[in-house]
Amino acid sequence: MKTKIEIRNLNVWFSKRQVIYDVNLKIPEQAITAVIGPSGCGKSTLLRAINRLHDLIPEAKVKGEVLLDGKDVYKDDPLAVRRKIGMVFQKPVPFPSMSIFENVAIGVKLNDLAKKEKLEKIVERSLRMAALWDEVKDILDSPGTSLSVGQQQRLTIARTLALEPEVLLMDEPTSALDPVSMKKIEELIVNLKNDYTIVIVTHDMRQAARISDFTAFMYDGKIIEFNETSELFRNPKEEITEKYITGRIS
Ligand SMILES: Nc1ncnc2c1ncn2[C@@H]1O[C@H](COP(=O)(O)OP(=O)(O)OP(=O)(O)O)[C@@H](O)[C@H]1O
Ligand SMILES: [Mg+2]
Repeated sequence: MKTKIEIRNLNVWFSKRQVIYDVNLKIPEQAITAVIGPSGCGKSTLLRAINRLHDLIPEAKVKGEVLLDGKDVYKDDPLAVRRKIGMVFQKPVPFPSMSIFENVAIGVKLNDLAKKEKLEKIVERSLRMAALWDEVKDILDSPGTSLSVGQQQRLTIARTLALEPEVLLMDEPTSALDPVSMKKIEELIVNLKNDYTIVIVTHDMRQAARISDFTAFMYDGKIIEFNETSELFRNPKEEITEKYITGRIS
């Protein structure tokens, strides 16, 4: 399988405190890679290092390389990097006082990427990909905040997809959702992998097992084990991985 993102010797500090240690990881293209591990082990920090969100935090220091198609994102323009590598967070945050349409169109508009007619097409296409179009096509002018939380999460996914990224990073995208919305988003993620490389952080090991092709287990800022998901769950190589997946550490 082709590698889309290669992380090389990645280290991250907040002020003087190191939280990511020498991470090396090859993330396969057009596949879903799950990142699992106990709370505080560095999953979100790792994800944010991939699209340079730590640039925005003065006390954060990142060392190492993150290669997207072989090119170091830390040597590229950060805004271009964040367009290519989109991010979806745990809690959907529709922009208040913006309609459903505007919520999806905003990134494209700010980047001046499309004219009006094209914008309408992009919004429709993104909402369709996010499996939300049928539910909102007649209420595009309603506020984004009027949607249910599950719909809002699909709205933020549509907003991210509107920028036509190549990689989608998702940090616990279903942990704030009800089971029906969670299932919808899981189906959506599986459908998206034909066109995208997806990295999903999850606390839900059944979710990782259900939808991911590969799984990385993190502990104390390190990648302990990376393997095909079925293999990692069936046949963990490290004792600490086994303890985590059998619920003996949390
Ligand atoms: N902006 C920040 N400033 C200082 N420390 C931070 C910051 N962000 C994260 N940390 C610290 O880095 C460590 C890793 O945090 P991170 O959020 O990556 O963990 P996580 O694995 O995503 O946890 P969770 O499962 O609870 O979301 C933690 O000890 C956390 O306190
Ligand atoms: Mg986290």
